[in-house]
Amino acid sequence: MIPEDPLATLFQCGNTFLDVLRTAQVDAARFRNMFQLRVSERGYERLHNKEFSKQAICMIQLFHLYKNFGPSLALNDINLKIDEGEFVFITGPSGAGKTTLLRMIFGEERPTSGNILINGVNLNRIKGSKLALLRRNIGFVFQDFKLLPKKTVFENVSLALEVTGEPYPFIRKKTHRTLRLVGLDHKKISYPLQLSGGEQQRVAIARAIIQSPLILIADEPTGNLDPDLTRDIMDLFRCVHSKGTTVVIATHNRELLKEGAQRTIFLNHGRVAGEK
Ligand SMILES: Nc1ncnc2c1ncn2[C@@H]1O[C@H](COP(=O)(O)OP(=O)(O)OP(=O)(O)O)[C@@H](O)[C@H]1O
Ligand SMILES: [Mg+2]
Repeated sequence: MIPEDPLATLFQCGNTFLDVLRTAQVDAARFRNMFQLRVSERGYERLHNKEFSKQAICMIQLFHLYKNFGPSLALNDINLKIDEGEFVFITGPSGAGKTTLLRMIFGEERPTSGNILINGVNLNRIKGSKLALLRRNIGFVFQDFKLLPKKTVFENVSLALEVTGEPYPFIRKKTHRTLRLVGLDHKKISYPLQLSGGEQQRVAIARAIIQSPLILIADEPTGNLDPDLTRDIMDLFRCVHSKGTTVVIATHNRELLKEGAQRTIFLNHGRVAGEK
């Protein structure tokens, strides 16, 4: 039986979405991430249903997605659904469209046509500051790390929280905790160029996870790592996943793909060529 819910009652009384959020202070804390997204009423209702009826909700949905770069077609009619809390690999040969797909989900690249829904929000319908707010809920580990060379490890990681306007003691505490999680607390005053490739990768992961994102995306996160480091990095992703984050990883690494029974989507020439 679905428990009686004060929010549902408020909706039934004809209040608008914002009225409901303003009135329900307690629930506002629980759905803080959703507020930052300023989700559509429908998106909120889906989360709400999930909370009360425990049905899976769709975190990422792609409908007839096409992307052209001049005459070349990087994505060709991609249709995909990834539920909240899934752990998904995206694989395929070089040039198949993996990075392009991840950048679309992150809202960094706009589709030529088609729609992308992130937690019920259609990326075609938002831009500017709203898109920036949504992206705070997505951690992205770039293939080439994109660390700021003139900032220390600590600063690279804490910057992601500073933009949220959280108080500094909170930022400092959370940055230390995240650096400890990736095993790099002892390198906090180093600069990226003083780190090994694996250490830089872990800083990039720390920066992506510090905001406890709804979605963690990683592009070839084990590209240049030896098998031991690869295992460490994958353990980190599993740890983040175990806390409820939806994880999407693009990889060529066959060893990773052999492991476990993770959902794997195969891309080829910009199309979904299969799924395991
Ligand atoms: N900014 C761009 N301008 C022009 N073409 C691009 C751009 N980005 C990607 N492409 C093209 O789109 C196609 C898909 O590229 P993408 O980087 O998504 O492939 P990938 O699967 O990530 O490859 P890899 O495994 O080598 O990283 C390629 O043909 C690439 O040349
Ligand atoms: Mg790529």
